[in-house]
Amino acid sequence: MAVRTALTERLGLELPIVQAPMAGVATPALAAAVSNAGGLGSLGSATLDAEALAGQIAEAGSLTQRPFNVNFFCHERPQDDQARTAAFRARLAGYYAEENLAAVPDPGESYLPFDEARLAVVLEARPAVVSFHFGLPRAEWLATIREAGCLTLATATTVEEARALEAAGIEVIVAQGWEAGGHRGTFRTPFERAQVGTLALVPQVVDAVACPVVAAGGIGDGRGIAAVLTLGAAAAQLGTSFVAAAESAAPALYRAALAGAGEADTRVTRLFTGRPARALVARYVAEMTPHETEVPDYPLPGPMVRPLTEAGLKRGVPDFHPLWSGQAARLARAEPAAAIVARLGRETEAALHRR
Ligand SMILES: Cc1cc2nc3c(=O)[nH]c(=O)nc-3n(C[C@H](O)[C@H](O)[C@H](O)COP(=O)(O)O)c2cc1C
Repeated sequence: MAVRTALTERLGLELPIVQAPMAGVATPALAAAVSNAGGLGSLGSATLDAEALAGQIAEAGSLTQRPFNVNFFCHERPQDDQARTAAFRARLAGYYAEENLAAVPDPGESYLPFDEARLAVVLEARPAVVSFHFGLPRAEWLATIREAGCLTLATATTVEEARALEAAGIEVIVAQGWEAGGHRGTFRTPFERAQVGTLALVPQVVDAVACPVVAAGGIGDGRGIAAVLTLGAAAAQLGTSFVAAAESAAPALYRAALAGAGEADTRVTRLFTGRPARALVARYVAEMTPHETEVPDYPLPGPMVRPLTEAGLKRGVPDFHPLWSGQAARLARAEPAAAIVARLGRETEAALHRR
């Protein structure tokens, strides 16, 4: 018996499963494979310029006729605090010397929030789904995206945020629990108060809004999907499970770290980008956590940390890699995306009908 929800009906999905948008990790091949398998695939487009975005949408569209999701970040532009930047630069200098790298580069906005150029690409391509993380774009941009026929989703980490998104016209709320891998979508509630687990968050968001809710965070198999459907979610959004997919862009050292990870091996850290995000703890996070308050605002640290990440990649060590992962890392399986989706579907049926 197929599971039908408001979201599967609206998009014609066979399964209430969303592959999370994952900037730098999701690929057009991954999104298309998930959509072809009956779920909703997503591109992680936040860090792409308009040209690369158009290329990825065209590539995904050439690989699937089914709906897929295009995702953007809507962060505030940062303030460059020179004292913090100087302190952070001094902390990084020792690692730079160890890796034989030249001086620590200046902080910079290597990617910008959603803008007019990318809006134009979206309006031209009209993907079935457009989603936002870290808040919302300008109201008039959101209105044109809806008028173009795209279903709009956005992340909430509290009931307050979910209500604000619905009031602004978002049609589906992604309720992201504290277990989730990658960046916290928190945009309105103070971050320290927005640390609610998926099991507690989802039913409270479902009760607070009239629109469908997608549950995200710590869901790693069909038992978790059945659980959030029981809580009233219209679908489950899984990120970490799809990092392990054959079609993801995760390098071998990231896959190996994930394969060996347990439930207690992650922490939420600002150390890579300046914004709280859950990652597996490798050397840089372990050593630098006491100095986290020195990290510049999102996304300024990016260019300062990236040479270390690249040096680690060359040496094949995960020390400086942003190993984004949720707390259900142990449940991820290294399989082709179609096999992951099919397995999740079977497990969900079994879990829902176990009595
Ligand atoms: C590698 C990775 C990258 C992510 N990048 C994004 C992103 O670009 N946009 C977004 O909305 N969410 C992003 N997320 C968060 C996911 O949307 C989702 O909330 C999370 O993966 C769910 O928790 P799970 O990892 O335990 O499945 C990312 C998650 C991971 C693991």
